[in-house]
Amino acid sequence: MSDSRETNSTPRRIVGTKRFREAMPKPISTRIFTVANQKGGVGKTTSAVNIGAALAMGGLRTLIIDLDPQGNASTAFGISRDEVNGMYEVITKDLPISDAALKVPGYPHLEIIPATQSLANAEVELVPMVARELRLKKALTNYLNDTAQRGERFDYVIIDCPPSLGLLTVNALVAADELLIPIQCEYYSLEGLTLLLHTVSLIQEHLNQNIKLSTIVLTMFDGRTRLANDVADEVRKHYPEQLIDIPIPRAVRVSEAPSYGQTVMTYDPASNGAEAYALVAREIARRGAPSITSISEVSVG
Ligand SMILES: Nc1ncnc2c1ncn2[C@@H]1O[C@H](COP(=O)(O)OP(=O)(O)OP(=O)(O)O)[C@@H](O)[C@H]1O
Ligand SMILES: [Mg+2]
Repeated sequence: MSDSRETNSTPRRIVGTKRFREAMPKPISTRIFTVANQKGGVGKTTSAVNIGAALAMGGLRTLIIDLDPQGNASTAFGISRDEVNGMYEVITKDLPISDAALKVPGYPHLEIIPATQSLANAEVELVPMVARELRLKKALTNYLNDTAQRGERFDYVIIDCPPSLGLLTVNALVAADELLIPIQCEYYSLEGLTLLLHTVSLIQEHLNQNIKLSTIVLTMFDGRTRLANDVADEVRKHYPEQLIDIPIPRAVRVSEAPSYGQTVMTYDPASNGAEAYALVAREIARRGAPSITSISEVSVG
């Protein structure tokens, strides 16, 4: 990480802790998540940045990739999007990730590759390129290998996608092993799921057999409404293993945090939204922790 630059945004007052007292378990190998749902505004970015921040605060080395031209994940960390290289250069100009990744100030273990406005052009520029679906995979593999060789292996990579199933999202699904779907518990929220999962099965067949739906997070949950509870029940019934049954409450502090260039994990760590995201991150880490058998396999081998 020594070659990553600090963000050049103006210094901000950081509120709260950057480290949980209880560390989270490391996975055996780097876990790469794509956060996708072609439905807009369901909490993809909010989940990507808060889960990423919480994993880092749990002591896990984490890389967040902002693959959405809207750049909301970048602004959530207070990154000024005009003055930096980012995913556009990486994905269309072969810029090594080491020249685009930024350390997030205040977090010992967190890096982000920002999205600048130009990423909006990538969707079109990628079309005639050779192996256009594999460009992120290639860049990320190189970066992960380099960092691992330096003894700075990443534990988690989290890719935030735009609300579409275009080439950027396809690149993310090809580069990842796990799909995390945030579901907002509202009417129609399950409708697009079939199309998303169909896309994933095509990618499994042709481009990346490792990708699987591993995690579902319920976002903006309002337990007082019958509808929210009905949607949660549906998800529970169909995806019992994938669902992390810790709904993220709809909470003002969560939606306020980005306007201060912060995640809710630092903006108001004691708020119920921050606590829920911390618990979700801890559960993700727990599920990815080596089992007792695999620990003994590792130590014996
Ligand atoms: N738990 C929550 N409580 C309150 N507001 C929330 C919560 N989660 C997300 N929001 C707000 O809902 C809006 C949409 O969230 P977010 O940007 O994370 O969705 P998205 O799926 O990434 O959207 P897009 O599809 O545009 O990328 C944002 O204004 C965000 O601040
Ligand atoms: Mg988003």
